[in-house]
Amino acid sequence: MIATQFMQFPRRSLLFMPGDSLKKIQKAATWEVDTVIMDLEDGVAQNRKEAACAVVSEALQALGFGRRERLVRLNHVSSGLPPAEIDATCVGRPDGYIVPKAEDESDLRAVDRLLDAAEKRLGVREGAFRLFAMIETALGIMNLKEIARATPRLEGLIFGAEDLAGDIGAVRTSAAWEVFYARSAIVTAAAAYNLQAFDMVFTDFNDAAGLDAESRIARQLGYTGKTCIHPNQTPVVNATFSPSDAEIDRAQRLIAAFEAQQAAGAGAFVFEGKMVDMPMLVAARKVLVRAGGHETSM
Ligand code: COA
Ligand code: MG
Repeated sequence: MIATQFMQFPRRSLLFMPGDSLKKIQKAATWEVDTVIMDLEDGVAQNRKEAACAVVSEALQALGFGRRERLVRLNHVSSGLPPAEIDATCVGRPDGYIVPKAEDESDLRAVDRLLDAAEKRLGVREGAFRLFAMIETALGIMNLKEIARATPRLEGLIFGAEDLAGDIGAVRTSAAWEVFYARSAIVTAAAAYNLQAFDMVFTDFNDAAGLDAESRIARQLGYTGKTCIHPNQTPVVNATFSPSDAEIDRAQRLIAAFEAQQAAGAGAFVFEGKMVDMPMLVAARKVLVRAGGHETSM
């Protein structure tokens, strides 16, 4: 059986933009991106928070986003801002909200309750607004299990490497070993609780080769998508997180060979010179599920 996180809306590229920039939201609404993240948190100056709420609300109501998912990143609950942010933006019916710097289940439950109330007011289905948690502090890593289980509304975990590095006193490098434990812990917790996992942003938005290399490692670790900060990053990320034609072909052949071997009474067998058994079959099926969501682009 394939875990349910692979059956959700397939998100490869998730593009952030400051919520007070209508121009950037407009651009994202026409761009090759799976998820548009309108930010109210660190991408917006303190004195622009209210303006950003108004712009996001207006954009959600006025713009057509096609099949792109529309998410709003809130400020942390401790700022006192989320009640007004949800009030102002829920009328635009975004697909969901992101809780930044999630540190324990109470951070998610507080937003969960606000969304319950908004759904009642709007008369929409209970649980309609999706929820995502950004894990970007040491405490968030320590409490991954309780965060992942805080609410059935939760669909994914997003890794924030820059904030984490600041929190633990690490120096960011392109190899990213300083955040490896957290990066791997997040994708493991996501798999354990049927959530999707999205990798950190790559801040050097003019370095396509560096982005490509970092995206490939994220994919090898098990991430299904990556957050982006600039439109020129999303084609690279979409390509890396879409199974290639060669991968799809190999998965199909492996599944066919597996079925033939099972019928002949063999559990483990040799496929293209290597041992194959049940875990490889599961991995091959996941490739086909991911391939079903999007056109291949590699
Ligand atoms: N989303 C949508 N459009 C974006 C964008 C984004 N994240 N970043 C840039 N663009 C647009 C620009 O408006 C510009 O549009 P135009 O060609 O129609 O004029 C075009 O893409 C090229 O942008 P460029 O000039 O290369 O970059 P910039 O100097 O305008 O912006 C940043 C650079 C880093 C400020 C910008 O990419 C940005 O705001 N990124 C997101 C920041 C953010 O949300 N941070 C919080 C989460 S980590
Ligand atoms: Mg952050």
